This record gives sequence, structure tokens and C-alpha cells, in this order.
Amino acid sequence: MKILIATDKPFAKVAVDGIRQEIEAAGFELALLEKYTEKQQLLDAVVDADAIIIRSDLIDAEVLAAAKQLKIVVRAGAGYDNVDLEAATKAGVCVMNTPGQNSNAVAELVFGLLVYAVRNFYNGTSGTELMGKKLGIHAYGNVGRNVARIAKGFGMEIYAYDAFCPDSVMEQDAVKPVKSAEELYSTCDIISLHIPATAETKKSINAALLGRLPKGAVLVNTARKEVIDEAQILEFMVSRPDFKYVTDIVPGNDAEMTEKVAGRYFTTPKKMGAQTSEANINAGIAAAKQIVDFIKNGNAKFKVN
Ligand code: 3PG
Repeated sequence: MKILIATDKPFAKVAVDGIRQEIEAAGFELALLEKYTEKQQLLDAVVDADAIIIRSDLIDAEVLAAAKQLKIVVRAGAGYDNVDLEAATKAGVCVMNTPGQNSNAVAELVFGLLVYAVRNFYNGTSGTELMGKKLGIHAYGNVGRNVARIAKGFGMEIYAYDAFCPDSVMEQDAVKPVKSAEELYSTCDIISLHIPATAETKKSINAALLGRLPKGAVLVNTARKEVIDEAQILEFMVSRPDFKYVTDIVPGNDAEMTEKVAGRYFTTPKKMGAQTSEANINAGIAAAKQIVDFIKNGNAKFKVN
């Protein structure tokens, strides 16, 4: 059995070592494709793979067609919008994610980005503090819950909106549930996005929603760029010089944003949320274990297709 790690953005070496240990202990072979620059490299590497561990790497119908022996793809992480689930199902390939394994890393970065934003990007001028501010967590999944936990340490007032999460789960964490995204944006000074990119959420963060935010608001995005209406956020920022946007996913209109709203906009050059050795170890080893358990015992617990 050949297990391939295909990561454009590599795991920390310590995580790759841990994955190798799991795979070899099961009697399987590990192959590694990191930092590839051409899709052809991925197409060549998957030809004899029985299983693939990926991150945000694109697994489309073409990749699946090239991977004739493929049985399972595990996205070492939370979001699996980079995998063509329909094509995988058609090809008889099981797709899994590793929910929760990298959430603390992403949640910590939210606060790294927020402190940077409210201190005016360290430009020497007087900024603001997080203590006492109203934080709106948009989607209360694994990352949202970690954000709430950390926000308590900053002394923030915490609200959340999640159409699929019962109020009682938020209330147990001393988080105030609100009834709609509109209410969240009207209520909070700072919004942290944790919605997945789906047909329903794509471009859902638009001018109408952002327009509800109070003066001096900040939006932090460690989720997906696709959920933002990029043309509208740019237009909104031009019309609202008090508003700041910090993101861990380079927007499609980065050059225009940099030019038109400089000083109120920041993006990490490459998605850094899950880029810690702890998160790489947690998600990578979970992925390896899930593959071994699936191939040896048929356990499909984290299947998403
Ligand atoms: C996730 O969905 O798990 C995060 O967005 C992390 O993505 P990455 O593995 O590409 O850093």
C-alpha cells in the first residue's frame, strides 16, 4: 500500500516523521510530494497511490482519474472545499477530514491578526484594546469555540451566530447566541469568520452585512476568501474609512485593496492559520491513523462524501 503526502504547503518535518512512523508501523510505504509547482507533478505522483494526505491541495476530477488505485483522500484539516466530492464518490474514493485537529492554531492567529489591526498595524499611532469589545463569532464550530475560549482571556464580550449549532452549546461557554448574521453584525465591534465555503456561503459577506457594523469595526477572516464578496468589501472600505479588514487568505483583488485601502487592510502572504508544528502533528498524524484504520478495518468515521 502506498500512501502519498501531497502538500504544496509542507507540514513541519516533525509531523512528516510522525506520519511516516504511523504508516510504516502499519506495513505501508510513504511517498512525499511537497512544494510542487505544476499540476502535472501531482498527476504523476498519484498514479500508484492507494491513499493521499493533503492540505488545501486541489483534488479535482482530473487528479482522481489519474489516481487509478486510490481508495481514500484525507484532508489534514477542517475545510474540504478543495476536493471534488462528487467526482470522488463517482470514483469510489472515500474523502475524510480531521476535524478539530488544527483549530487552536487557527484561533490563536485570529488574535495575532486582531491585535495587529487594533494597534493600527504597529504604525506608532494610538490604537485600541480588545478588552470590553464585543466579539462576534460567525459560525461556532471547532475554531469558533477556541476563539471564544481565548477571547475570555482578553476580557471581551462574546456573541456568536451559527444556524446549525444549538444555543445551549454557546451558552455553556458563556457565549451569547444571536438569531441571525444580521443581528451579529449590528451588535459586534469585531467579527471573526469561521464559515466554510459552500454554495450558500460564497460571497455572503457583502456590503449589506458589513454596513451594519458600528464605527471602528474590524473583520478578521481565517476561513476562506470565497465567502467574501471581494468587489463589495473594497467598495465598502472606500466608503467607510473607519473599517479594517485583516485576512489569512490572500484576496483575489489584493493589489487593488493594497492600493485603495492601505493602512486598514492586511493579508498574510500564504495561509498561516494551521501552520504550526502542533497543528501539523495533530492533523497529519490523525490523517495517517484514519487511513490505516480505513484500509485495515474499514472504519469510515470521518467520511464527508
Ligand atoms: C483548514 O481548513 O483546515 C485550514 O484552513 C487550514 O488549511 P491548510 O492546511 O491549507 O493550512
